[in-house]
Amino acid sequence: MPRKILVTSALPYANGSIHLGHLVEYIQTDIWVRFQKMLGNTCYYVCADDTHGTPVMLRAEKEGITPEELIDRVWHEHKADFDGFHVTFDHYGSTNSAETKEFAQAIYRNLKAADLIEVRSVEQFYDPVKNMFLPDRFIKGECPKCHAKDQYGDNCEACGTTYAPTELINPYSAVSGAQPERRNSDHYFFKLSDLRCQEFLRKWTRSDTLQSEASNKMQEWLGSESENKLSDWDISRDAPYFGFEIPDAPGKYFYVWLDAPVGYMGSFKQFCNANNINFDDYWKQGSDAELYHFIGKDILYFHALFWPAMLQHAGFRTPTKLFAHGFLTVNGEKMSKSRGTFITADSYLKQGLNPEYLRYYYAAKLNGTMEDLDLSLEDFVAKVNSDLIGKYVNIASRTAGFITKHFGGALMEMPESVHPIYDQSSVIALSNEETDRADINPQSVNKLDATRDEDHLINNPQKLLHEFQSASPALAGIYENRDFAKALRLIMRLADIANKFVNEEKPWELSKLGIQPEKLHFACSLSINLVRILTIYLKPVLPKLAVQVESFLNVTPLQWSDALHTLPGGHTINPYQHLMTRVDQKQIDAMIEANKQTLEPATDTHSPARHAEAQQHAIAPIAETISIDEFSKVDLRVAKIVNAEHVEGAEKLLKLTLDIGEAQPRTVFAGIKSAYDPEKLKGRMTVMVANLAPRKMKFGLSEGMVLAASGDAPGLFILSLDDGAQPGMRIK
Ligand code: MSP
Ligand code: ZN
Repeated sequence: MPRKILVTSALPYANGSIHLGHLVEYIQTDIWVRFQKMLGNTCYYVCADDTHGTPVMLRAEKEGITPEELIDRVWHEHKADFDGFHVTFDHYGSTNSAETKEFAQAIYRNLKAADLIEVRSVEQFYDPVKNMFLPDRFIKGECPKCHAKDQYGDNCEACGTTYAPTELINPYSAVSGAQPERRNSDHYFFKLSDLRCQEFLRKWTRSDTLQSEASNKMQEWLGSESENKLSDWDISRDAPYFGFEIPDAPGKYFYVWLDAPVGYMGSFKQFCNANNINFDDYWKQGSDAELYHFIGKDILYFHALFWPAMLQHAGFRTPTKLFAHGFLTVNGEKMSKSRGTFITADSYLKQGLNPEYLRYYYAAKLNGTMEDLDLSLEDFVAKVNSDLIGKYVNIASRTAGFITKHFGGALMEMPESVHPIYDQSSVIALSNEETDRADINPQSVNKLDATRDEDHLINNPQKLLHEFQSASPALAGIYENRDFAKALRLIMRLADIANKFVNEEKPWELSKLGIQPEKLHFACSLSINLVRILTIYLKPVLPKLAVQVESFLNVTPLQWSDALHTLPGGHTINPYQHLMTRVDQKQIDAMIEANKQTLEPATDTHSPARHAEAQQHAIAPIAETISIDEFSKVDLRVAKIVNAEHVEGAEKLLKLTLDIGEAQPRTVFAGIKSAYDPEKLKGRMTVMVANLAPRKMKFGLSEGMVLAASGDAPGLFILSLDDGAQPGMRIK
């Protein structure tokens, strides 16, 4: 019986781009899902954008668009990035959907009916200029411990202390710069401290739902039986907020983390509706379907405590397992914008780098634990070139041509495997046998791992084939346990053996000498069969390459069980075409360069308010006095923005085409991308410095400068003119 499996990845925030850190998760999940599908299991993979909350609301406001417009644009960007890396969801939705809203409200109502919701007054910081309560991240001030300036309201980046925003010295709003006031407001709480939640979570933690590291964390959070370490969870936020209103609580919205995981259900519901699938089969309490959430270790708390407790007490099934992973570092360090290692998915693809290089590299590092993993760019180039090109592709590229040239593309019949390999049921049995790490079926794994004399394999085609085919159950178990690193080590060992076989047979010599055509035919046919088996094993990781190989082999899409048989004698293959090119270090260098932030300090709106003192003075000191003659040297003109567009590879710049009444419009690169949507600028009048010496920039010549206001508080504001001003008018 095929298993019924529903898989999710965490929902990426709609206020940022997908980067290589995110892809650790989505690629990992996609590999696992593809593997399940190849086994013949019913496996659905759903995800969605996480759209609600204050950051999205404020960013939309800054761009002068509605939150709905913003999340729609980002949805398309995210979707394109995932497509680009062959991350194939069965459905990609949005938390801002009717389905998610309905489930969020239903869950809330059920929790309320179960007496697990409580209203309490909470004192919080309020921005009197913006008229809103401030989330911790939007309050800054001096660290109460080490006195570092400009620290966020939840923790100090200088000394690492965590505290409540009310403990900050000289706090200020990062939104308006104003001094925040303390105000009271009613908040809705989910009573996680209730004995029922504690008891349930203890049981849930024991029932093999978590990796060992995650389960240790849970024990820590839960404490011993006698302690009650869980505190209630504040699930409401006051208007203005971009999110769902709480039923019967006007002006109160669900905190984004309440409806985010509900988005898993909402997205799946949309998928069910469109495909005639019974939603309840997967979500009703007692469902026999499996439910897995792939998440990063930073969001374990939400998925291991709040989420299962919510589901349990609202009458839904709880997750079968959580699969948490570690964080990505690049060249051994945290991703950094200034070093150019905060690499966006888009910049990787735009460099023309093959997405399967990254899929392979990540797979080679992922072992199913919560350990962090490092993308060492040097190692990346070396590993991809050596394994994929040097080992895997090399087998076909050295043998396929002879089949086409001498034998009309037809393969020779392969001998029966010497031993019965295993039957299909053992694959399922093995893959059901779950352990935390991949050491299941130790016998076959150890056998594969052992370095031993391989000569007897190379000289015995039957044994050689058997070696390849009998790896199937062990590899299935290893994939099931998400130890992709181990799977790839075993597969590459097989590829090494296949290459040794080719080296030994030397088809190029046989072909040149024109002797023993039978031997040439057999060696090449066997090699092609070995390539086919390796392709099956690599297909979850390299789905696109597998499709290319399938078309070259002239076969239907390969399934996991296809490793059990060889291609029949007489089967014809298509002429070999080059499968993959080597990675070039130059492409990597160019990608890093493209991700380095261009240094234009005045326009850095990402770091709100640099100094608390500056806030108190309100404005920076006035510059030195100049004469009117000196001022007149600056030729300021009314400029019409006839075109505005993004600049490929530039983090901060927009390319503006400005009409100032001259024969030819001017091109100006302006560091205003963070604040303006180019579409909205088109047709607008503004002010430019027309006699500034042209400046050669990486992206072209900039023929002037557009003026904009900025200060310590966030925001960047270009100038507008009163009605009637014409392009080219001088400003004096
Ligand atoms: N929106 C929440 C998740 C809600 S799920 C109901 C969120 N979004 S996120 O965009 O910040 O992260 C999405 C996923 O990517 C998370 O699982 C997170 O752990 C993962 N990663 C983000 N940066 C990462 C790295 N640098 N390395 C590895 N995974 C990373 O959290
Ligand atoms: Zn500090």
